[in-house]
Amino acid sequence: MAREKKRRSNGRRSPLAAAALIGAGLLITGAVYAGATAAIASTDTRSSAASTLTAEDGAKLFTANCATCHGLNLQGTANGPSLYGVGELAVEFQVSTGRMPLQMQGPQAPQKAPQFTEEQIRAMAAYVQSEAPGPTYPSDEIIDGGGDVANGAELFRVNCAMCHNVAAAGGALTEGKYAPALTETSALHMYAAMVTGPQNMPVFGDMNLSDEDKRDIISALLFQQQSVQIGGFSLGSLGPVSEGLFVWIFGIGALVAITVWITAKSN
Ligand code: HEC
Ligand code: HEC
Repeated sequence: MAREKKRRSNGRRSPLAAAALIGAGLLITGAVYAGATAAIASTDTRSSAASTLTAEDGAKLFTANCATCHGLNLQGTANGPSLYGVGELAVEFQVSTGRMPLQMQGPQAPQKAPQFTEEQIRAMAAYVQSEAPGPTYPSDEIIDGGGDVANGAELFRVNCAMCHNVAAAGGALTEGKYAPALTETSALHMYAAMVTGPQNMPVFGDMNLSDEDKRDIISALLFQQQSVQIGGFSLGSLGPVSEGLFVWIFGIGALVAITVWITAKSN
């Protein structure tokens, strides 16, 4: 007991010392980690800026990865359609959503992890655009999400909801095809889908939806992606079907349980 007291008074084992030591350790680790991540991030941007690929590199990538199905001159083959006039935006959309290169013939090209870097994709897109031009990248304003959300939601209900569902949760179409959910899609790909009309989706040209309309629809979809669900469970946003099913199973289930409980109690 006496020894313990003596040590404390020496100040060698002050409880504050331990706290200070841990604090210092945390600070140093944090600083080193922050420095390291910043360094890695800066090397990343430098290396990608240093090696900009050209349309010629894109042509090589295309010949190696796409020509078996789309032809050496984009003319198309029995395994894939011609790419005349589909434009760089269609290539960017198809390849960076992982739909292309197609791996297996089927009712619809599935989305998968992209097989190329964004830079390689842009290079292939530039090559296709240089051979036979088509729809191109939008101005930043159209995809900035700053449009009229209410008008966009209205336009979405009229033009898109029959396939993609009012809540943009996606839906099944005929012959094993489907309109995907739009809950993860980027603004660029929303625009790309509207102007290139992938697969079963119609093309929405300027006559149908002006650039301003497209900007509003994109804004509405982005708003929906960011907003928090309010009003309890969404139940898949399927409306009366899932709500009815919920009441059927849990409502009637609860009634049955209560009835059983009452009878059991009266005994
Ligand atoms: C195994 C065959 C195959 C390969 C390989 C392939 N495609 Fe396709 N591609 C298809 C088929 C089939 C379609 C149409 C199917 C669909 O739209 O669902 C298509 C559609 C496309 C479209 C959309 C055309 C349009 O009318 O909008 C683009 C763009 C495209 N491919 C680009 C590419 C690029 C770029 C590559 C190489 C990275 C590639 N494809 C590799 C078979 C292939
Ligand atoms: C006739 C049904 C139909 C209508 C109407 C329709 N789409 Fe589509 N949409 C599809 C199909 C089918 C696909 C999938 C194409 C594929 O996988 O190649 C798709 C794909 C998309 C994608 C790409 C999703 C992703 O994550 O890659 C977006 C974005 C999109 N649609 C937005 C819209 C918008 C906005 C409208 C209204 C202006 C609309 N669609 C109207 C059927 C439709």
